[in-house]
Amino acid sequence: MAVFSPAAVDHAICQAIAQLPAGYWDFAGADTKEWTHGYHTYPAMMIPQVARRLIALIQDQRPDITTLFDPFMGSGTSLVEGLLAGLTVTGSDLNPLSRLLTRAKTTAWDPGTLQAPIATVFAHAEALRVSESDWPTFANLTFWFKPAVITDLVRLQRTIETVVPEDLQPFFWAAFSDTVRWVSNSRNAEFKLYRLDAARLATWNPDVFGTFGKVLTRNQKGNARLATRRPLPPVALHAYNAMDLSALPASSFDLMVTSPPYGDSRTTVAYGQFSRLSLQWLNLPDAPDGTPSNKLDQAMLGGQATKGLDHALPSPTLTKALNRIANQDADRARDVLAFYNDLDVTLKEIARVMRSGGYQCWVVGNRTVKKTQLMTDAIITELSARYGLVPVTAFTRTIPNKRMPKENSPTNEAGQKVTTMNGEQIFILRKV
Ligand SMILES: C[S@@+](CC[C@H](N)C(=O)[O-])C[C@H]1O[C@@H](n2cnc3c(N)ncnc32)[C@H](O)[C@@H]1O
Repeated sequence: MAVFSPAAVDHAICQAIAQLPAGYWDFAGADTKEWTHGYHTYPAMMIPQVARRLIALIQDQRPDITTLFDPFMGSGTSLVEGLLAGLTVTGSDLNPLSRLLTRAKTTAWDPGTLQAPIATVFAHAEALRVSESDWPTFANLTFWFKPAVITDLVRLQRTIETVVPEDLQPFFWAAFSDTVRWVSNSRNAEFKLYRLDAARLATWNPDVFGTFGKVLTRNQKGNARLATRRPLPPVALHAYNAMDLSALPASSFDLMVTSPPYGDSRTTVAYGQFSRLSLQWLNLPDAPDGTPSNKLDQAMLGGQATKGLDHALPSPTLTKALNRIANQDADRARDVLAFYNDLDVTLKEIARVMRSGGYQCWVVGNRTVKKTQLMTDAIITELSARYGLVPVTAFTRTIPNKRMPKENSPTNEAGQKVTTMNGEQIFILRKV
């Protein structure tokens, strides 16, 4: 077996990145929906091409690697790319919607097996008689869905449950979930739940079956493409909180490619809120080790406030930022500290499950709080040192059109302006 010198591999990775043309990582105009990546929208998705290139950069120097891990897999972008690169993939996420979507996106069904249920699903659903007593009972149902929409969604839901073979169901549920989102009374361009305004609502009569049909057709194409790669390497999906990966043995993975949350769910991206309507309709069983879906946002990183501002986190970058924020708003500083306290616990866990010589590729957003930019890339790098991680390289990619919180806010430097999250930081660490 080949023996790789870690320093030589680090050097080669840096050289390869240095040779890429300016703007390479922006991937402006790239098709981010290819393969199965277009199945379903999800907040703060990673650009598939970024994951693909990161994996290739490591594989070029370390062709011996076999395993990829994403502890915050979201919609499964890095897992799909890991599979395409021939790696055995493991992912985890607190959000049940994430696990459903990733299951659907990382499974390559024989395209022929999908044909028959797709052909029968509509006739079956249309023939179903549904009355108001069959409607689900979750809160604010009629606030978020028109009566005709509810009836059609119930028809589809029952049909998938009864007509679609169980092994094909993730494909159908993923399409159903995307349909729920499109036909709801929520503004689809937003990740937080906002209702359409009264004028738009008055004329809002979405075609549930038509939408489901379009989504199925689109996703069938993605599946057919992934199926060209059958058989795929193994996939393992978990519901672990990234703060407790104790069920995974130490030294399990060669490579991690991940994008963690930007901050706590309350003040940044509310994954629970984004997923709520889908989850209410999907009625997924709670994973034995999972978090109830109405508690998702509190269980995520930074979900529990800290009492004070004392901390022993060995990150000068964080300490400096916290002091600045605390001078203006102690509550916000506590929110920020809660997030990084939790992140630090995950860093220890992730380091433990990485093999010696393995690489961690991080894609993070450095958000701004009270005009102070939180340099999450530097903070993770500093915090990870005591868990045996050394920095390899770091660079920035500009985001051509990512859907995420954007706000103009002046920096602390006179005359300067920054746009919150107009770029993201990519950096690579190596486990010694
Ligand atoms: C930025 S998203 C990942 C997006 C993903 N890279 C993609 O392309 O779709 C971060 C994810 O972290 C998850 N998350 C937040 N806190 C978590 C925790 N403590 N344990 C596990 N997952 C968590 C959220 O549910 C969310 O799916």
